[in-house]
Amino acid sequence: MTLSLATPYELGGLKLNNRIVMPPMCQYSAIGKDGMPTDWHYVHYVSRAVGGTGLIIIEMTNIEPDGRISDQCLGLWSDEHIPAFARMVEGMQQHGSKVSIQIAHAGRKSTCAEVPVSSSNQAFSDQYKQPRALTTDEVKRMVEQYRDAAVRAVKAGVNSIQLHGAHGYLIHQFHSPSINNRTDEYGDDPTRFGVEVIQAVRSAIPSGMNLQIRVSAVDYGVGGYDVNYGIEVCQKYAAAGVDLLDISTGGGVSVNALPPNIGPGYQLPVARAVKQAIGLPVIAVGLLDEPKLAHAALVNGDCDLVAVGRGMLRDPYWALHALQATGTKPAAPKAYERGYL
Ligand SMILES: Cc1cc2nc3c(=O)[nH]c(=O)nc-3n(C[C@H](O)[C@H](O)[C@H](O)COP(=O)(O)O)c2cc1C
Repeated sequence: MTLSLATPYELGGLKLNNRIVMPPMCQYSAIGKDGMPTDWHYVHYVSRAVGGTGLIIIEMTNIEPDGRISDQCLGLWSDEHIPAFARMVEGMQQHGSKVSIQIAHAGRKSTCAEVPVSSSNQAFSDQYKQPRALTTDEVKRMVEQYRDAAVRAVKAGVNSIQLHGAHGYLIHQFHSPSINNRTDEYGDDPTRFGVEVIQAVRSAIPSGMNLQIRVSAVDYGVGGYDVNYGIEVCQKYAAAGVDLLDISTGGGVSVNALPPNIGPGYQLPVARAVKQAIGLPVIAVGLLDEPKLAHAALVNGDCDLVAVGRGMLRDPYWALHALQATGTKPAAPKAYERGYL
């Protein structure tokens, strides 16, 4: 079969109808500061499933209240959250999508924690609160909280777990050498925290369940790191037990430092470099919403799956439209078939 966006994808127990992914995108739409998904989330996510998306990754979902960016972010810090996530997950799966969820902690980028925590006490910028460095025991407890949130996600029925190791959130705050100035074991090896989170989650989810990590494989600006360091980090995380790498860039040390080549497909060279170096399958993301470009990224071997974020905010049926635009008659829901004759 010739490779295209329409080609099904199988990785271990994860079987996708096509190569199209909705990446995690915070909706900042929880009501009542309790981290609960609402009808907004249900409609938002299920629409993208109706729209033919192969894999939907639920937005940054936090392991404790102080791990949220804002009071309106989602959480899975208690069993009480499980039913609302289960309703959404089932809705997406009924329409043919597989579902992953991004388990996260914002660390020093939390705006709602009274005193945010991080690997060190350095603030992200003067617009952000000064964080407190976690004690070694607190770091170990944090690892357990990632594990517990992932287990709750499994109980809610997800097909895959994604860990958020990108964009300057807590795991990134540990593996970034310029942020992490610790003198304990989590500073001796800055990837140790991420590795322990992966191992803890891997050991607690069903064997064979897809486990991914999103990594900023380049971090721009003073104190950032290059792709060679990003690849070293990915190597450690791959060895710890992830099956799939979601490759993004930036967000660790600067809000202002942008990639030099921002434009369509700007992160593809980084995704390709990681894929070639590590040998694990890769999701690429970043201005891939022109369907022929997304198709070319797959066919050229830059990545195994293509994620489209803002394009799917504009068009919930981006996947159906992209399949049409690249020469496949999409399998639209029966009720919509006359729109796709
Ligand atoms: C509204 C919005 C919310 C986002 N929230 C998250 C998030 O929760 N986790 C994450 O890793 N990235 C997040 N991102 C980044 C996207 O997942 C994606 O990597 C980025 O938008 C680039 O892809 P695009 O050019 O297709 O939009 C967000 C982006 C947007 C626009």
